[in-house]
Amino acid sequence: MRYLTFALTKGRLAEKTLALLKKTGITMEEMEDKSSRKLIFTNEEYGLKFFLAKGPDVPTYVEYGAADIGIVGKDTILEEQRKLYEVMDLGFGKCRMCVCGPKEAEDLLKRQELIRVATKYPHIAREYFHNVRHQTVEIIKLNGSIELAPIVGLSEVIVDIVETGSTLRENGLVVLKEICPLSARVVVNPVSMRMENERISRILKEMKAAL
Ligand code: PRP
Repeated sequence: MRYLTFALTKGRLAEKTLALLKKTGITMEEMEDKSSRKLIFTNEEYGLKFFLAKGPDVPTYVEYGAADIGIVGKDTILEEQRKLYEVMDLGFGKCRMCVCGPKEAEDLLKRQELIRVATKYPHIAREYFHNVRHQTVEIIKLNGSIELAPIVGLSEVIVDIVETGSTLRENGLVVLKEICPLSARVVVNPVSMRMENERISRILKEMKAAL
């Protein structure tokens, strides 16, 4: 039997994903060992393989069929624009994609001014300002600690994920506009969905029951 391969997102989502898989009876003790540098794990009982990847790489592995199934945030799915099926909302990893900045920046949005927007999500930001707000902006791509940008004067606003809101609060920033709700999703390679429909459907059903 061919192994079904899962690409899981490293970090915050990984723990919740592993807990969910455990509930369905799929265990990977090896993967829970945080000191290990091993990248790929096998569950012989179910014929499954698992690996951990950086979020933005998960849709890439799934589109190319290097993984049949991926577990990744909706933010990454929207940003990466890969050809894949989004088949399930796991309901955890809940947060919101927002335009944030100092309270005063609200006026700049209202007046449709040409502003700079710093973000880890240039596609989502461009799409929102261009197609939803019809506002011309300059997008500046950053890779983390996005909240810094308006504080040090790199940009007027940011487009970023807000979960508890404490990063914003501690840095004197507020949510100015909400773009969309986010959570962890299951994505599937379209060819795998056809060729391995029965096995994939069974696993999805078990995951849904364990939620
Ligand atoms: C994310 C996001 C915000 C923060 C939001 O960053 O970019 O900075 O979490 O969470 P909160 O609303 O609960 O404060 P992450 O910690 O993933 O790191 P990063 O800054 O390197 O992107």
